[in-house]
Amino acid sequence: MRIFVAGGTGAIGRPLVRRLVAAGHDVTVLTRSEDGARATRADGASAVLGDAFDAPGLRQAVAAARPDVVVNQLTNLSQTSNPRAIKQGFERTGRLREQASRTLVEGAAQAGARRVVAQSIAFAYRPGPGTRGEDDPLYLDGPAQISGLAGSIDQLEKATLGSDKVEGVVLRYGAFYGPGTYYCPDGLFATMLGKRRLPQPGRGRGVFGFLHVDDAASATLAAIDGPPGTYNIVDDAPVPASEWMPYLARLLGAKPPYHLPVGLFRLVAGAYSAYLFDEQPAVSNSRAKERLGWQPAHPQWRAGFESIFA
Ligand SMILES: NC(=O)c1ccc[n+]([C@@H]2O[C@H](COP(=O)([O-])OP(=O)(O)OC[C@H]3O[C@@H](n4cnc5c(N)ncnc54)[C@H](OP(=O)(O)O)[C@@H]3O)[C@@H](O)[C@H]2O)c1
Repeated sequence: MRIFVAGGTGAIGRPLVRRLVAAGHDVTVLTRSEDGARATRADGASAVLGDAFDAPGLRQAVAAARPDVVVNQLTNLSQTSNPRAIKQGFERTGRLREQASRTLVEGAAQAGARRVVAQSIAFAYRPGPGTRGEDDPLYLDGPAQISGLAGSIDQLEKATLGSDKVEGVVLRYGAFYGPGTYYCPDGLFATMLGKRRLPQPGRGRGVFGFLHVDDAASATLAAIDGPPGTYNIVDDAPVPASEWMPYLARLLGAKPPYHLPVGLFRLVAGAYSAYLFDEQPAVSNSRAKERLGWQPAHPQWRAGFESIFA
């Protein structure tokens, strides 16, 4: 199959492209840089230089690749703890979700592609008790920072699923860990936790659904052939921040995180971070298992973390 990947040089992009190539697909990757193009070629795929905000250029790049499937893995978040950089990363990623997702679907339709598979997130559901499935509401009515993010996710998902010419699959990935992510030995959150610069807000009740990037890649392969629709892609062991934070600190040889009142944490780190660490609900992966036949190779974050950090 011919597959066009936007975002194929990132934390999930590279393991995904390697798997697609190993499965015999003919893969083209969009990248903004010569370095990205070199890495792509080293992984056995073709590279095309371009910027996803250049809509005509992106549509042309998709058309030239004549893909059967278009994969959207575009994000541009900050890799630093600088609040200004984080805010800018959110804004850039929001624009990618709102604008580039639409352009990719248009390009896919014009090129006669059969399907678009797009990256979404499993950590934008409305908070409250219980476990969330894909039909539960996003936190569109949350505080401004959260509703803005959930709104851009909603636009990405509607663009991906709303075409009458191309099938759509939305993958709501959990919190990535593994090489190149925030949770690897030199990753942002692991480094902050190791230096005791990542406090636990309040009771740390936010329930994380972790996901090894290799499992994100295997789910994406399954989504190329499986039934269209929306899927939560997380491991089998949802875990509150109050549990994984001290566990990871111990693996890093650090003291447990200190505690900060939620209000103060929100002031310093923003409403969305406070939601993640103290409010986000648990998420179920049962639909992906049933309909895509997907099974995570790293079903338990504890063993997964040990494979990365121990
Ligand atoms: N579910 C999750 O937990 C999740 C989701 C996303 C990101 N993250 C984390 O966020 C951190 C930062 O990652 P990141 O957002 O920089 O993603 P990343 O994983 O480094 O990849 C971003 C991808 O998007 C491409 N891209 C971005 N803007 C583009 C544009 N305007 N035009 C064309 N391509 C563009 C990049 O390509 P080029 O740079 O080659 O042009 C790259 O392939 C990572 O640690 C990652 O793990 C986590």
